[in-house]
Amino acid sequence: MKVNFTETVLRDANQSLIATRMPFSDFEGILETLDKAGYYSLECWGGATFDSCLRYLNEDPWERLRKIKAKVKNTKLQMLLRGQNILGYKHYPDDVVRSFVAHAAQNGIDIFRIFDALNDFRNIEVAVDEALKQGAHVQGCISYTTSPIHNLEKYAAMGKQLEDLHVNSICIKDMAGIMGPKDAYDLIKALKSSVKVPVYLHTHSTTGLGPITYMKAIEAGCDGIDSAISSFSGGTSQPATESLNYALQQMGYITGLNDKVLKDINDFFKPLKNKYISSGLMDAFVMGTETDALIYQVPGGMLSNLISQLKAQNSIDRLDEVLAEIPEVRKDLGYPPLVTPMSQMVGVQAVANVLAGERYKNISKEIKSYLKGEYGTSPGKINEDLIKKVLGDEKPITTRFADTLEPVFEKAKQELGSRARNDEDVLSYIAFPQIAEKFFKQREESETQIVSYTITKKQEEKI
Ligand code: CO
Repeated sequence: MKVNFTETVLRDANQSLIATRMPFSDFEGILETLDKAGYYSLECWGGATFDSCLRYLNEDPWERLRKIKAKVKNTKLQMLLRGQNILGYKHYPDDVVRSFVAHAAQNGIDIFRIFDALNDFRNIEVAVDEALKQGAHVQGCISYTTSPIHNLEKYAAMGKQLEDLHVNSICIKDMAGIMGPKDAYDLIKALKSSVKVPVYLHTHSTTGLGPITYMKAIEAGCDGIDSAISSFSGGTSQPATESLNYALQQMGYITGLNDKVLKDINDFFKPLKNKYISSGLMDAFVMGTETDALIYQVPGGMLSNLISQLKAQNSIDRLDEVLAEIPEVRKDLGYPPLVTPMSQMVGVQAVANVLAGERYKNISKEIKSYLKGEYGTSPGKINEDLIKKVLGDEKPITTRFADTLEPVFEKAKQELGSRARNDEDVLSYIAFPQIAEKFFKQREESETQIVSYTITKKQEEKI
């Protein structure tokens, strides 16, 4: 039996271990080798990479994608897309979602893994439809969580719902690494008997369950897994590619991976890891096994963000309190899975509750929108007092929020004028207006510098 491997070093491992701060120049040199390893796909775009490129790395995310595509010619490129949220933290109108997906496909994405934080699939419909129209492979996601209201029947029903949207495969997304081997076995069995398309599993090593969970999932018929090259594996990242490949081959599974190439890849990333550790970018906390996550259900990326958020507020000593507050906030909100943007929203609210010394003294704009129903239907019932406090007598909406949004692409394009060089720039601007503007300005300035340098050089030569 074949087990497909998706390598996450460029996206999820990067996001979970070093808050997505790996610049293109750091991994450019290994792309052609990554292409030779025999991976089913290379997860390299989407998630937080888009935001991080513009915000911290002064990189054009679209150009990054094109440059990756130019060197990775055989392996499928995969991205993680937040449905109607695209790569941001709010809902965008349908015209933007369609345009974004179309441009992502045209710039090199082969596989779109699409999820909604609340598993409200009305929020992924348009993205799924557009990606299919573009001829891409669409992997519909079930965001996995445990709670008094989540069970096997509900997950199997979600699988069916996804299949009705004509997805090509389904991924169970265990972003917090809280899925145990028995959960995995039962869940994969349930899905394999309710749907016809391949079923993939995504987990993290956070709690140390990852490899055994994968093993049982594969025994239940799981078609593919996500892993990270060993120097960027473990902790809040994925289990190691090489170890899983070794174990699975030993058990007679076909992985399609080449051990020698994997070794070359790891030899490349080892010194990079050391560099990130010495610069303080990679924190010891994200590298260990954190079994408290079984209680708190805090995903990898969220843990590292919480740590930096608390450090910035000189309150890192309150981390335990914040971690204990998270399940309370989650319960009040009807047990949303802790995945972007819910993980950030719940995290920020938990920090606010702890630092204010009072629950919901300050409520973020996003949580208010959530209570209004703008993110979709919550999995469970929301605390009524909280709704009253925020909405008063107003009733939450029950329709798809994006239906209330006017198209914005053409308007944004006009607004930007010549500052946008192409439609991709317009999409970056719609996703992150101020950050994209700053990026465009810096790009302009650095190019002007290069031009004036060349002119001076030429004049010198004449003299
Ligand atoms: Co993940």
